[in-house]
Amino acid sequence: MDKMTVRDIEVTGKRVLVRVDFNVPLDEKTGEVIDDSRIRAALPTIKYLTGRGAKVILLSHLGRPKGRVVEELRLAVVARRLSRLLGQPVSCTADCIGPDVEKKIASLKKGDVLLLENLRFHAEEEAGDASFAQALARLGDVFVNDAFGAAHRAHASITGIPDYLPAVAGFLLEKEVDSLGNILLSPARPFASLLGGAKISDKVSILENIMGKVDFLLVGGGMAATFLQAESYETGLSLIEEDMLDTAARLMAEARQSGVQLLLPVDVVVAGELGDEAKGEIISIGKIPASKRIADIGPQTVLNFSEKLRHCQTIFWNGPMGIYEIPQFARGTQEMARLLARLEATTVIGGGSTADVVNEMRLTDKMTFVSTGGGASLEFLSGKTLPGVAALLDKKS
Ligand code: 3PG
Ligand code: MG
Repeated sequence: MDKMTVRDIEVTGKRVLVRVDFNVPLDEKTGEVIDDSRIRAALPTIKYLTGRGAKVILLSHLGRPKGRVVEELRLAVVARRLSRLLGQPVSCTADCIGPDVEKKIASLKKGDVLLLENLRFHAEEEAGDASFAQALARLGDVFVNDAFGAAHRAHASITGIPDYLPAVAGFLLEKEVDSLGNILLSPARPFASLLGGAKISDKVSILENIMGKVDFLLVGGGMAATFLQAESYETGLSLIEEDMLDTAARLMAEARQSGVQLLLPVDVVVAGELGDEAKGEIISIGKIPASKRIADIGPQTVLNFSEKLRHCQTIFWNGPMGIYEIPQFARGTQEMARLLARLEATTVIGGGSTADVVNEMRLTDKMTFVSTGGGASLEFLSGKTLPGVAALLDKKS
């Protein structure tokens, strides 16, 4: 990465503001943290700083409270989990700016960790408000951005604070940019991208950017239906993005022209209704009944995809293969996850729901890299510059 990192600055005794992405899923009933991957992912930076005697002040958002205080979205529950993971107390504040916060910071000792309250309780955060950014910046001496998952947002705590403080990358942000960047820059070949998820419209830019770089493009999930329709297959009640049919056809033509093998499902699991009781039926793509919709890829497709992936040196996966939240339609997604976990290849998992599946299946350690960014990793792989990364200081050459 061509940006300065936490290694490049003096931190001992300094008040170090660290933007983290602790936007973690919470249990609706208990309010407890369901998946702490994003908290764990920030530990290397936090430990590095405490180990060097910095006063660590963490900033994060949680959920989308839209500028109001929402009790269920307070960060205290995250502070408790972080404290357990770090093995040291982590105190929190009732707000993220103001005199009380300043007092608490003034009493911090070297190696202490403080988590400020949810940034998005202030509408100024998402608005990228300059005076709010300045109020945050006043709380620290230097700024470290380790919130890769939010680096695509031009919010006050992401792109605003760097206007007032020296700003560098944390270890997670660096690892994300390097891991995702490498698969675009110099992937070991053959290189395959496995894409799924509900909609093509979400994936067009990444498809376009990755097309010239991959050897294989394997398409499953809800978005496969629009590709199949563009190839004139009957897709029954499947969700079709009518305005994406031309795009789908164009992408397939581009693949042919650039020698990229684009594989679509050859069989699928279909169902009438999609409730928990729904029964799936395996059917070849030429025989999808008008009364049913695609809910997963079929076993022959799993075999076809596996056959290609087995010979690849680099695999990027984003998007489930079916409606994985419903167990009877999770098979295709799970089979792909298990296969990738077994392979020797470099396996990079885009964040969001794909990372959730891999984390739930406890396969994270078996992958080369699982991104903590959903939208951020998609934008990055679409070739866009993330504003949060752009705002950091360049490495001195
Ligand atoms: C995420 O989970 O996608 C990031 O934390 C950013 O959150 P947002 O999508 O609400 O901006
Ligand atoms: Mg998001």
